[in-house]
Amino acid sequence: MSAIQEELDKEIQKRRTFAIISHPDAGKTTLTEKLLLYGGAIHLAGSIKSRKTQRHAVSDWMEIEKQRGISVTSSVLQFDYEGCRINILDTPGHQDFSEDTYRTLMAVDSAVMVLDIAKGVEAQTKKLFKVCKQRGIPIFTFVNKLDRFGKAPLDIMDELEHVLGIRSYPMDWPIGTDGKYMGVYDRRRKKIELFAEDSSHGQSERVSETFEPDDSRVRERVGESAWEALQDDIMLLDEAGEDFDEKMVAAGELTPMFFGSAMTNFGVQNFLEEYIRLAPPPQPRKSSEGLIAPDSEEFSAFVFKIQANMNPAHRDRLAFIRICSGKFERNMEVWHEKSGKLLKLAQPQQFLAQDRQIIDTAYPGDIVGLFDPGVFGIGDTICQQRKFKYEDFPVFPPEKFARVSAKDTMKRKQFVKGIEQLTQEGAIQLFQQAGAGAESYIVGTVGTLQFEVLEYRLKNEYNVDIELNMQPYEVARWLAYEDGSEVAPASLKGADRGMFVYDRHGNPVLLVNNEWALGWITDNNPDLQLGTVPFDRKEA
Ligand code: G4P
Repeated sequence: MSAIQEELDKEIQKRRTFAIISHPDAGKTTLTEKLLLYGGAIHLAGSIKSRKTQRHAVSDWMEIEKQRGISVTSSVLQFDYEGCRINILDTPGHQDFSEDTYRTLMAVDSAVMVLDIAKGVEAQTKKLFKVCKQRGIPIFTFVNKLDRFGKAPLDIMDELEHVLGIRSYPMDWPIGTDGKYMGVYDRRRKKIELFAEDSSHGQSERVSETFEPDDSRVRERVGESAWEALQDDIMLLDEAGEDFDEKMVAAGELTPMFFGSAMTNFGVQNFLEEYIRLAPPPQPRKSSEGLIAPDSEEFSAFVFKIQANMNPAHRDRLAFIRICSGKFERNMEVWHEKSGKLLKLAQPQQFLAQDRQIIDTAYPGDIVGLFDPGVFGIGDTICQQRKFKYEDFPVFPPEKFARVSAKDTMKRKQFVKGIEQLTQEGAIQLFQQAGAGAESYIVGTVGTLQFEVLEYRLKNEYNVDIELNMQPYEVARWLAYEDGSEVAPASLKGADRGMFVYDRHGNPVLLVNNEWALGWITDNNPDLQLGTVPFDRKEA
């Protein structure tokens, strides 16, 4: 084996690239910080909301995030743990999340789903889970807030199966009932870990006590009824539960499940260690020329996110790439597949929390921020030899719409430039109303927060104040007639029941208020075909 092949193999096996998905407040930020704490990447974990006067959470970047105390942009964090290199792609967890959140999931090899034990599976968990499930990546579950009252663990397992359609395999099992949890039983190692009192409010690593399951001190400490309940539960899981099947885990059909408390650090280290053991290293990726293996010597990557002005000190735009194969070297020349341009990757950057640093090398699974000279779009492939392109990103149907114009008509030029740039980045979807002038754009997004980001960025980057009028529509449908003839407002019955617009490629789209309105349109236009995304694209 050649030296470069050996190097690649070694580096690939070390890497774990994942995202944490959850509904807001389930504890994603806290868990991320605790993983960094165990990885030695930060020394003191502080949580954003609880300690507002302290520094912000490590993944906070944009000013808007700070103002609102939430995380808007997806950030990338890297640390080493026990010989592994971990890349965590942070997905914004706010109610009004954006397509960025979804796209981040295109760049990971596995996902960690955090659930609040009191709430179980929530709305946003479901949406994000769906994207992971479609990709067929392994999903790990961390049931959080075990220090508090919550649902019965068996009920959570039931919810996973019935609400999300995934079976679970508890890797550990909580000891105690009704929120009075005293520790967990590690099913693989057959050890018991008991909560030790934590006086640092979770700011330092947890020292926990480990016992053999038959140690009489455990029985004394947890009490007779919790002990009996544990024995019954373990028997039930062993006899009636799922078997641990690695193939099912790899296909995202069985989720290894962990119980813990990110706030008090309980179960975090055990989770991290088991996760590293079970999660896959970088996997082959589909391209126009079939699967591309990560250990292929030719470098390749794709863009999954574009972000402008992440840091006011650097007025620039970065394209985040996920490396899929080969070795990345600073100053290397690569093809930008779409434009056919040869680019020199001169200032590759990597991130740890708020610091960025220039890197010289990177490997499959790593995320690198490239200075974007304005050529990159979401999903673009870059490669050493221009032979293939990675499969297109799926499209996420917009659900929120607003009419957007520049307050000052003199600023129209900058306004159009900004809007077009943000569309190209994939931050918004752009439509134009049939028959209306070019000054009136209809912008579609996945969540309303994107409008705030739009407003903020047009103001800060293009010096344009905008007028935003939210529209009542929640459903967009691309339109086509079966015989291929042109769909126009005049030919469509009930076009006035919604808004007839064109997407930026000129495809006709109807925006309507709800599914009921859509039903009317379908019933009255029998030859009409409707798509939730453009007909030449795949829906996520
Ligand atoms: P998110 O990123 O998923 O939105 O959640 P985040 O980590 O910000 O946590 C949301 C809230 O839940 C925070 O509380 C956080 O301290 C709390 N939390 C996280 N993990 C645990 C846990 O294991 N146990 C308990 N009991 N709480 C947890 P907050 O209300 O915003 O602040 P504070 O009142 O806790 O200071």
